[in-house]
Amino acid sequence: MAVKDAVRQTLADNKGTYISGEELSASLGVSRAAVWKAINALRSEGCTIEAVTNKGYRMPVADETITEDSLRYALPPHLRDNTCFLYDELDSTNLQAKRLLLEQKARSGCAVIATRQTAGRGRLGRSFFSPESGLYMSIIIKPDFDISRSVLVTVAAAAAVATAVEDVCRQDARIKWVNDVYIEGSKICGILTEAMTDFESGQIENLVIGIGINTCLDGFPPELLQTAGAVDLTRAAASGNIPASTNAISMLAAEVLRNTLEFTEQIAGGSPAFLDLYREKSLVLGKDIRVFKGTYRSDPTSELGGVPAKALAIDDAGGLVVMYTNGERETLTTGEVTIRL
Ligand code: BTN
Repeated sequence: MAVKDAVRQTLADNKGTYISGEELSASLGVSRAAVWKAINALRSEGCTIEAVTNKGYRMPVADETITEDSLRYALPPHLRDNTCFLYDELDSTNLQAKRLLLEQKARSGCAVIATRQTAGRGRLGRSFFSPESGLYMSIIIKPDFDISRSVLVTVAAAAAVATAVEDVCRQDARIKWVNDVYIEGSKICGILTEAMTDFESGQIENLVIGIGINTCLDGFPPELLQTAGAVDLTRAAASGNIPASTNAISMLAAEVLRNTLEFTEQIAGGSPAFLDLYREKSLVLGKDIRVFKGTYRSDPTSELGGVPAKALAIDDAGGLVVMYTNGERETLTTGEVTIRL
């Protein structure tokens, strides 16, 4: 690891604590001059490092809460005005987005963001654990495409999250079909897309894309800790890519919103470009998986449950093409289907 990266990592791991130049040089096995040069290089990249005589260097503890200001500075100019509704606490951002739509206070392109949720909703009627300091957001879009393509919305959102996590947090994010985002084998994000139907016409008027990203695992119950992971905001903050006017969590929210709007706009036009990105980041393509579907009988010879299959492809409608052990092929199209690796 280059001296600069090692200094950055040490200061980031000890945020808020001063470390002397002497300690840094001893622990990294480099000269004081090399430490000093690395500090200057990091500062010139925009990394905030405070220095106090006789104490040393430290990175300030970042305030990772989303405020109107931190979000405004993180958003691209065209999304800055009247697009985001911020709350400390909500039952569920999806529910609030629907209420705002009914009250005609929100429109397509808006996002609802909360610091914590008291009744976070997950897929298949499950709840979604939503303690303080996660990123919980719902993005409203009005579909301008045939509803048969709506599975692509969820696919687009997963690609949007994985891209944002890589750009902001510099972590390798992968997608488990259809819309769970993983880092190093742990789930860091879940997505639940819900439709708002017009009562009279029965047509889908709006879609609410709910995205929950774990940013810290403090307080998670042990059963969730078996599968849950979190993005590393400290790493993002230490990357030198977060402007001083904002913070890592706001940048992450802004990038998720920007990517989701950009990708969902591609859906109306044939074969959307984000699908290639989604395929590249797929955790399942080419792998042996197990398919869980209401009407399927599990493989009686296995204790693992589900039906064994190979994941062959993701088609242009976002469906997962699988081949079972008897050679039969099927294209899975979300709904009640879940898969395990
Ligand atoms: C899942 O993995 O089961 C999907 C979880 C989706 C959670 C998000 S958090 C923001 C939005 N509001 C909710 O109530 N749910 C979604």
